[in-house]
Amino acid sequence: MKTHKIAVIAGDGIGPEVINEGIKVLNEAAKLDGSFCFEFTHFPWGCEYYKQNGKMMADDGIETLKKFDAIFLGAVGAPGVPDHISLWDLLLIIRKSFDQYINLRPVKLLKGAPTVLKDSKPEDIDMIFVRENTEGEYAGSGSWLFKGKPNEVVIQDGVFSRKGCERVIRYAYELAKAQNKSLTSISKANALNYSMVFWDQIFEEVGKDFPEVKTYSYLVDAASMFMVKDPKRFEIVVTSNLFGDILTDLGAAIAGGMGLAAGANLNPDKEFPSMFEPIHGSAPDIAGKGMANPLATVWSAGQMLDFFGHEKWANKLIDYIERILTDKKVLTPDLGGSATTSQVGDEIIRIMNEEK
Ligand code: NAD
Ligand code: IPM
Ligand code: MN
Repeated sequence: MKTHKIAVIAGDGIGPEVINEGIKVLNEAAKLDGSFCFEFTHFPWGCEYYKQNGKMMADDGIETLKKFDAIFLGAVGAPGVPDHISLWDLLLIIRKSFDQYINLRPVKLLKGAPTVLKDSKPEDIDMIFVRENTEGEYAGSGSWLFKGKPNEVVIQDGVFSRKGCERVIRYAYELAKAQNKSLTSISKANALNYSMVFWDQIFEEVGKDFPEVKTYSYLVDAASMFMVKDPKRFEIVVTSNLFGDILTDLGAAIAGGMGLAAGANLNPDKEFPSMFEPIHGSAPDIAGKGMANPLATVWSAGQMLDFFGHEKWANKLIDYIERILTDKKVLTPDLGGSATTSQVGDEIIRIMNEEK
């Protein structure tokens, strides 16, 4: 029997609430399948840990995590700890240290899910965002000069390396080719006259190896407009770190809300563990109330199963989520229901067992 060793960082706010349900579902999939199992190791890292220890994770945290097959993360961030510290010292440092250069985020309107776009149907909103995840606007390069003085200056660099751009763009082309879909690059070369001109150039260069892939290239401002007005245009999408961050929250809004937005931070070369997490944050406004929707986390768990080669289970989980959404009996308040986080998790387990 194959054992998948998972490091769990449930984190802050609604993180522990949604992760609990994700673990329940992963264990159930393993039990029903019988050919694999999970071994979960929990790490208490996050903002509470910071308040007690002055750091977001243990000093040897990255070394410790390296030994796992994957990381399952809830959310990070809490009032009282500056966001740039809590996120940089935990989430972002993991993405970078483990070279998780692909952030794969489905923007897919599942059957039964609500959308703010009144005329859109599931077949109209079916994209996969391939977000660059280690550099770009998130490189963490810059300086803060003359702090507190009248001539204060801050500089935040965007770092776009040839290697960094090529690998994410190539991954997106491969995905488009494998799925026989079009590929759209989203950039902003009219204003960002170095970074995005370079990005567009690499998009064209790499494209020479994929003559069969139909491509489009949009400026990010127009792309945001088209995502709302005509989402059908987009199939596989590749974009930079910051644009991908913003556009996938927009994507969440048109595809069921934050409670349904899943994501995977992948190190495709499998040199380091990959990390699976919903794209939403710690939602302090609803934390501790049992109101958080766990379906995004369950979908991310499905992405983990897919990454481990259990595609059958990844697809089944999406079917089960669609069942919950179309039945409309057990839904959290964000989807118009009154069920709790754990009741939704229990309902998935019930549906999983119906097939037996
Ligand atoms: P957020 O995603 O936490 O919340 C935005 C809105 O969506 C809130 O109204 C929230 O209640 C709702 N929401 C989010 N997830 C939900 C769910 N599963 N079910 C139902 N409703 C849900 O974003 P924010 O408020 O901008 O940020 C809160 C904190 O989280 C900040 O500290 C931020 O830095 C952090 N953050 C962390 C991550 C991460 O860990 N991956 C991602 C985004 C934000
Ligand atoms: C996300 C989050 C993170 C990001 C934050 C919390 C640093 O918003 O995963 O989308 O910007 O990547
Ligand atoms: Mn985000």
